Amino acid sequence: MNHDRIEKNVGLLGLLTVIAISFGGLAEIVPLYFSRQVTEPAPGVVPYTPLQLEGRDIYIREGCSNCHSQMVRPLRAETERYGHYSLAGESVYDRPFLFGSKRTGPDLARVGGRYSDEWHRLHLRNPRDLVPESNMPGYPWLEERVLDGAATPRKLRTLRRLGVPYTDEQIAAATAEVAGRTELQALVAYLQGLGLAAKSWK
Ligand code: HEC
Repeated sequence: MNHDRIEKNVGLLGLLTVIAISFGGLAEIVPLYFSRQVTEPAPGVVPYTPLQLEGRDIYIREGCSNCHSQMVRPLRAETERYGHYSLAGESVYDRPFLFGSKRTGPDLARVGGRYSDEWHRLHLRNPRDLVPESNMPGYPWLEERVLDGAATPRKLRTLRRLGVPYTDEQIAAATAEVAGRTELQALVAYLQGLGLAAKSWK
C-alpha cells in the first residue's frame, strides 16, 4: 500500500508533512495580501512627511522600540489608557513596522498631540527633569546634531517603489524640508504625528 511506503520512508514522510503543514500557513497568510483592511490606509492615515521620516529613522537608531511598543491592544484597560486600539491599516506606510513587544515605558502609538513640542524637548534631554522616577535614558545629543537631508529624497523614492504615494514634487522638496533642522526636531515631528488619525475614530 502507498501509505505503507510513506510511513517507512522518513525522508518522504518529512517532505509530505511539511507540504501538509504549509497549506495551513498559506490559508492564513495569502488572503492577507488581498485584504483591503490590511493593504489600504485606515481613515486619515497619510504618509510621513520627509522630516517625520528622518525622525522615524532616529527613533529606530536610538532603539526607542526596546522600551516602547506602538500597538494598542483591543482590551479595555488599553483603550481606556491610550485610545482606539491599533488597526492594521495604520501601518501600511511603516517599513519596517515598529509594533515592538517590550513596554518598559508606555505605548507610543497614540502619543501625538498629548504633550507640547517643548515637553518632548525637555523630556528627551533628561526625562527626570519632568518625571523624577523615570528610568528612560536622556538623549542630549539630538539637540546638537543638524540634518543635511542629503539622503532624504532617496528614502522617499525607495518607499515609493514599495507603494507609498509620494509625488515627484515631494521628493524634490524633501532635502530643503529637512536640511538645517536638528535630529530632535525630526524626532519630535515624528512623535507628534503618531496616532493623530485615530483621534477621529469612534
Ligand atoms: C530604558 C527604556 C527606555 C528607552 C530606551 C526609551 N524610553 Fe521613553 N520612556 C521610558 C519610561 C520608563 C517612560 C515613562 C516615564 C517617563 O515619562 O519618562 C518613558 C516615557 C516616554 C514618553 C512619554 C509617554 C507618555 O505617554 O507619557 C515618550 C514620548 C518617550 N518615552 C519617548 C521615547 C523615545 C523617542 C525614545 C528613544 C529616543 C525613548 N523613549 C527611549 C523608557 C524608555
